[in-house]
Parts: sequence; structure tokens; C-alpha cells
Amino acid sequence: MKYTIKQVKKEFLNFFEKNGHTIIKNSSIIPENDDSLLFINAGMAPIKNVFTGQEQPDSKRMCNLQICIRTNDIDSIGDRHHLSSFCMLGSWSVGDYFKKEAVAFAYDLLVNHLKIPKEKLYATVFGGDKTRGLPADTDSGNFWQDMGIAKNHILNCSFEDNFWRMGDGESPCGPCTEVFYDTGDKHGKSYEETGYFDDKKRYIEIWNAGVFMQYLQTEKGTYEKLPFNSVDTGSGIERLVMTLNGYESVYQTEVYAPIINHILANSDKAKDESVRIISDHIKTSVLILNAGIEPSNVKRGYVLRRLLRRAMRHLRNINAKEGLLEELVAKTIDNLIECDIAPEWNYSKDQIVEKVKLEQEKFSKLLENGLKVFEEFVSNKNNITDGKLNSNLVFKLYDTFGFPFEITKELANEHNLSVSEKEFEELFAEHKENSKGDVGKVFKSGLADINDNTIKLHTATHLLHAGLKKFLGQNVNQKGSNITPERLRFDFNFERKMTAEEVQAVEDFVNNIINQKIEICREEMPYDLAKESGAVGLFSSKYGENVSVYTIGSFSKEICSGPHAKNTKDLGRFKITKEESSSAGIRRIKAVLQ
Ligand code: SER
Repeated sequence: MKYTIKQVKKEFLNFFEKNGHTIIKNSSIIPENDDSLLFINAGMAPIKNVFTGQEQPDSKRMCNLQICIRTNDIDSIGDRHHLSSFCMLGSWSVGDYFKKEAVAFAYDLLVNHLKIPKEKLYATVFGGDKTRGLPADTDSGNFWQDMGIAKNHILNCSFEDNFWRMGDGESPCGPCTEVFYDTGDKHGKSYEETGYFDDKKRYIEIWNAGVFMQYLQTEKGTYEKLPFNSVDTGSGIERLVMTLNGYESVYQTEVYAPIINHILANSDKAKDESVRIISDHIKTSVLILNAGIEPSNVKRGYVLRRLLRRAMRHLRNINAKEGLLEELVAKTIDNLIECDIAPEWNYSKDQIVEKVKLEQEKFSKLLENGLKVFEEFVSNKNNITDGKLNSNLVFKLYDTFGFPFEITKELANEHNLSVSEKEFEELFAEHKENSKGDVGKVFKSGLADINDNTIKLHTATHLLHAGLKKFLGQNVNQKGSNITPERLRFDFNFERKMTAEEVQAVEDFVNNIINQKIEICREEMPYDLAKESGAVGLFSSKYGENVSVYTIGSFSKEICSGPHAKNTKDLGRFKITKEESSSAGIRRIKAVLQ
């Protein structure tokens, strides 16, 4: 019998539900209230504050399937088991059970329910780190042995491998224990034979069966005890299905197989690695586009651009027939729906295909010319030192021909040349510094990315601000604003919780203006004049002489660098989804346009 993704999802969630866990939602891939993260990269990311006690969890035991995006392993994509987007099955104990129960749950599900022979499993545990003052986790190894895993299948590992945190910033963290599946002799020599645990080829990680959250990593890199202990687990469902079915790679699962087959049927030069990269990158791009992000040169938009352009380059590599990219995008969307991974998500298929086509038009000419220029660069020996391509040229390929670093790196590798990522990053940072004007502008208005949705939400923010002043008092002022494609977040000074009536009144005020179909006007004028005319100015000290002022009928007038919608009718329906405290004397509203 072959397992499907749907079955394994059901098996996992049923198992944890039966053991007292509440199933929580699959959040958007765009983090809310978390500027430290471009994309949700683990199931715990949307709920990270429950582990520090800052927020209350829905339940002390939870589980879900969360779609995650991770592009830090982009170089590994094309192998058997790395993906830039995947479904993470997760389970959590928040201040409830700890190591012993977590290990027992993992063993029970894998061995008793999913029938994986225990001899195929290996567990890694944290061996401690003296310089950081972190003791070894000796308990977990013992618990694995109690369950029936042989002692020589339990490995002590380093801080880098077995101490999980969200990155270098502030984050709840702790030692973890990971489960690996032995895919057998055809994938390399065994650990027993060589003493080397080949986790790149033979042994595939299938479950981080417990991050034992007990510390808070501070900005300074120290570790403080958390008020209570928690467990955070995560398992990539594509890998789990791959190992359960004895597949060669995750690309044989139903999330990828139909796409791979379609590529193979439409290319006369298909190479395994390229085909995998294409299907992976298109799927992740679809997810990002569907979250309202558009290709650009900043932040999330740039991740998307890199993925799409790399997919395009590989399509060219395999001699793909014309129009294949669009077909694959449409097919990927159909297949995501068919696989039922996130039944609650809708896909705007035509729009997504259109956006990919637009990006392809932009890049196809550049790609053609850039490849010629690249060939010229590498044919001149002066551009190469000790086998490394001159970094200014790598940057030029980015700057002039829109080649993301990975593309140039791959091309260079095909010529047995190296490139320096560090030097490229330095040139990139220098370039960013020089064009800071633009970047500053983006952040001034609190937009995480500029696209149709964020622009409309930005206009809604002005109306919200005006409504709050009208119903709560003129001394209410903006204290912070953050806009993602999905929602606006607005902080303002006010001493108490708003009543339900006040929230309703503000919401009605905004919707009323939307219904009046009012043009949004922009004027340039000297700062003093703008202030005199009653425009609300938020960052006065930062403005130069002339400022732009956005007016919405008689309702709102703000000094602002934009961008804004043309007419309030474009906004749709405004809805306040949350009103809460942000800090002392500051309230926070989240709202959406429906
Ligand atoms: N947060 C942990 C990880 O990403 C467990 O899910 O590995």
C-alpha cells in the first residue's frame, strides 16, 4: 500500500488529537507582527510568543499542518529531499508535557502507527556546548532507549545541529532530538561501517521530534531560562511520505509527480536536477504570489524573483517548449488543490499565471543577453583569479541583467569557476546604500512590499486614522504602522480598550467613505503650508521642504509619501479584525479589506 500526503496528514493529526492536542489553523506564509522573518519557516513561527508566555495559547497541547517556506537551503534543492516550500506537521506542548512524553509520542506514531521498523530509525540528541554554558541533553537518549531504539542508533550532536532556535535574534530555543530514516545501502555506506553518519544521502531527517524549549536566546547571544518548559516538533510531510513509500525522492510524492511528468513530456533535454528545481521553484513561487507578493528587488518580492528567474533559466537549460512555464504554473495550482494540502486556501489562478508571464517577459530578453555577456566575461582570463570570477562582474550581471546570485553561481560552476557570495553581498549592500532614497520611502509608509493590496490597505490606514480621531478624540495619533499584503496593523495612543460600539463606528465610517467613491488627491506643497492647512504630519522632522499631501474628500488629509489607491471605491469592504493593547497607553488595530 502506498501512503498519500492526505492520509499521512490525517494519521498525524488524528494521533495527536486523540492524545489531547487541539488542531490549530495553517497560518498564512507571510508572518503577522514579525518583521524579523520574511516567511513562515516552521510551524511554531506563528505561535512563537506562546513559548515565552507573552501570549496565551489556544490550548496547552496543539498540532497542525503548516505550509512553510525556507530558501536558506536553496543550493541543496535538486537533491532527493530538500524543498524550498513544504508542509510541516507540527505538535506542541506549551508548559505541559516534556521530553519523555514527546519521545514516546514520536516513537508510537512512527513505529506503531506508521509501521516503520525501529531498526531503520536513528535519533540525534544535543551533546552540550561548554562555551555557551549549555549542558548536554542526556535524558532524551535514555528515553529513546527505553522505547526500544538501540544505543548505537542514538548520536550526540553539536550546537549547530541539535540546538534549535529561530535564527540569531531573540527566540525561544532549546536542545532538540531529530529522527532519521535509513534509506539503505544503495545510498552510501552505513554509520556502523564507517562511523560517519551521512545525513546528506543515506540518512534522511524525517522529524524534529522535539525542540525542548527551555531558554530564551537574547539579542546578545546569551541564554536565559524561560518561565516554563515546552515542546515544539516538526516533520516535513513530503519526506515522511517519501520514506514510508520507499520513494527515491520527495519529487515522487503526488505534490510534485504530475508536474515532473509534464516537464519530462515537454522537454527533449531533461536533466533530473533541473526538472526538480523547476517544479520546486514554481510551486514556491505560486504560494508566494498567492499571498499577494509580486516580484521585485526587495525582501519577499526578491525571494520570489530569484525563484522564478532560476526556474526560467533551468527551463531554458532543458530546452523546454515555448509556453511551458505558464502551463506548469496552472498545473501546479490545480495540483495543490487536488492534493488538498490547505483546503482553506483559494488560488487566483488567472492572476498568478498573468504575473508569472509578466516576469518572464521582463526576464527573457535579459537572460538571453546576460548569457552572452557571461560567456564573454569567462572567456577573458583577466576576469578570473585563482579560478574565481571577478565579483564586480557577478554584480554587474545582477544589476544590469537581473541575474540573481544563484544563477551566476550555477553558470560559473558549469565552467568550473567559483564566485564569492560574500563579495557579492558587500557590493549589494553598497548598492542598496546608494539607492536608500527608494528604500526609505517604502518603509516610511509602513509597507512591507509595494503591490495592489498593500497600496489599498495603506489608503484604508489613512481612513482608519481619521475615524479614530473622529470617534476617540483629535489627540489620538499614529504610533506605528505596518502593512503586509493581507492586513494593516495600526498602533495609536489611547488609554483603554475600545468599546464594541466604537470599533463598529470606526468601521462604518471607513466603509461609508469607501462607498462614496472618492478620488484620492495628491498635492506637493511646502511643509509649513501643509501643516497650516490642517494636514496630519507624522514624522515632521524627517520631511524636506516640499512634502506630498494626500487628501480624501473632507475626511482625511495627511502628509505622506504614498503610494495610495486612486479612488476609495477600489478598497472593497473594510473590517477591523482585532483591537488590543500593544504596550502601555498604546492600542493596536488589525484590519483587512474583504
Ligand atoms: N521548529 C523546529 C524545526 O523547525 C521543530 O519544528 O525544526
